[in-house]
Amino acid sequence: MCGIVGYVGPNDTVDVLINGLRRLEYRGYDSAGIAVVDEAGDLTVRKRSGKLARLEELLSESPVGEGHTGIGHTRWATHGGPTDANAHPHLGDNGKLALIHNGIVENFAELRAELEAAGVTLESETDTEVVAGILGREFARLGDLEAAFRAVVPRLHGTFTLLATHRDEPGKIVAARHHSPLVVGLGDGENFLGSDVAAFVSFTRRAVAVNEDNIAIITPDGVRVTDFAGAPVEYREFEVEWDAEAADKGGWSSFMAKEINEQPEAVANTVRGRIEGDHVVIPELEALGDDVLRGIDRIIIIACGTASYAGQVGAYAIEQWARIPVEVQLSHEFRYRDPVLSDRTMVISVSQSGETMDTLMAVKYAIERGVKTVSVCNTQSATIPRESDAAVYTHAGPEVAVASTKAFIAQITALYLIGLHLGRVRETLAPEDSAAAVAQFETLPEKVREAVETHDQIAQLAHWMADTRSVLFLGRHVGYPIALEGALKLKEIAYIHAEGFAAGELKHGPIALIDHGQPVFVLVPSPRTAPLMHSKIVSNIQEIRARGARVIAVVEKGDTSVLPYADDVIRLPLADALFEPLLQVVPLQWFALELSTAKGLDVDQPRNLAKSVTVE
Ligand code: G6P
Repeated sequence: MCGIVGYVGPNDTVDVLINGLRRLEYRGYDSAGIAVVDEAGDLTVRKRSGKLARLEELLSESPVGEGHTGIGHTRWATHGGPTDANAHPHLGDNGKLALIHNGIVENFAELRAELEAAGVTLESETDTEVVAGILGREFARLGDLEAAFRAVVPRLHGTFTLLATHRDEPGKIVAARHHSPLVVGLGDGENFLGSDVAAFVSFTRRAVAVNEDNIAIITPDGVRVTDFAGAPVEYREFEVEWDAEAADKGGWSSFMAKEINEQPEAVANTVRGRIEGDHVVIPELEALGDDVLRGIDRIIIIACGTASYAGQVGAYAIEQWARIPVEVQLSHEFRYRDPVLSDRTMVISVSQSGETMDTLMAVKYAIERGVKTVSVCNTQSATIPRESDAAVYTHAGPEVAVASTKAFIAQITALYLIGLHLGRVRETLAPEDSAAAVAQFETLPEKVREAVETHDQIAQLAHWMADTRSVLFLGRHVGYPIALEGALKLKEIAYIHAEGFAAGELKHGPIALIDHGQPVFVLVPSPRTAPLMHSKIVSNIQEIRARGARVIAVVEKGDTSVLPYADDVIRLPLADALFEPLLQVVPLQWFALELSTAKGLDVDQPRNLAKSVTVE
């Protein structure tokens, strides 16, 4: 939610900023803008509503002189619509200071009144311009950007990452973070700032995660970090695990297509190093101590969006293997319900970005109540894993498309591994069940590859269904969250009304929606490993078919039981029932992508959404 990049160094600043913004655009694309201090000492701002391409057009019509200090922003609108005037950067100190912001300053009205009383005219509706104004006044008073930051940040309520540069201090950017992400990229004679490492991974893989309530000051020759009072803070460097190529589209038509294709590796890489013989051993959980894991009597999984559906799938497996009651709660609901928690509760958060504000706040709430917290996260050194007692990283690689695909599959994989680890430590998992699950993991990447290969069939289906206005998805047990995820994907990127239901719930209401031609995807569990559920769902198929539904059945290869009732059959490799979600979701991802494409939409950047939602 809003991408931020900063650069100081000898290279062409505009190029570095645009490169960074391109990689951060998934965080928001309502507007984009840059501010550069050029060699003549002038501060120039270019900004425009719309996607980054519109800013690039502006820059080619009206270039910026060469400079070596600059900041850039890509916006997901909060205060004020997506207009040119509301685009960042915003100016203070009579145009000499430029500021960009990710987050929401809640007390902006009071600060705005203070500025207006002092005769400052504001040009936008944003909270950011108000902060730029206040910061500018402090700079005018103190003559020092860092000191101005120290004076201003304690006055701001809400969430923010702020980056500012001042014409009179070229070669320096000052940044502060409070509940929003900020990382530093360490270069040789140049340094970077970003919302995440994608902002600078083309130039350096050496990074530093800035802690909560810290200020970072970068110049070409150095990086300093202080607390809000100015006391120096030590920082630790880490190496970014992936390179710029991993975050490039390569030859793919969209990031989403690329990421769907990367799912076999996402599973394999998440499993790697976590299997010993017939057992799962997660070193990060071992560090918590077996006694702690044995003492857990309840698990709450918290997450939002796609991650919450991964949590729902994972809950079935953890309960089955570790015999601990597991419930899944949406992060934004969790802390408002005054949850019953004890020191024997474990909260497992699931978040691709590790920065989702609702999930972060829920984790903090759990920590305050003495609960053990485990983070399942895909982004190295993100805030949530750093705050948690243990981090079990998914190794899906950078996910750029707003709609999550490979991270989802990796999240389910990680949750299953957690279930198997807990089952082993708590001695609730029979050795043969552990061995069977490990055997499933060994063949899973290849099976996911086969599921990916359903693409051509799904593309054809989507082509026929391009005018569809509503699609329903049905599943049972672990297939139920997959039905929800299939519906979410379609809503997110194809803007088509879609709903997922537990198949057993059908006759309690949703069956009234079935009319002639209504498309319904049905996730059919394996008749070999889940015969009871299988026969129930075949009955459900007959019920909807009798009422005119167009049935698209997702089955395992060799299951012919649905052939008389299905209009289309999508066949997937054989897997144990618990592992089927990791295959079933793949054709649903393709379906959403292909319908979105058929409608001429931007698959990777759907309207109104942002990948990383860093406001509550
Ligand atoms: C946003 C994205 C979803 C994502 C959710 C959770 O809503 O559009 O695709 O599932 O955030 O994101 P997280 O980074 O916490 O997994």
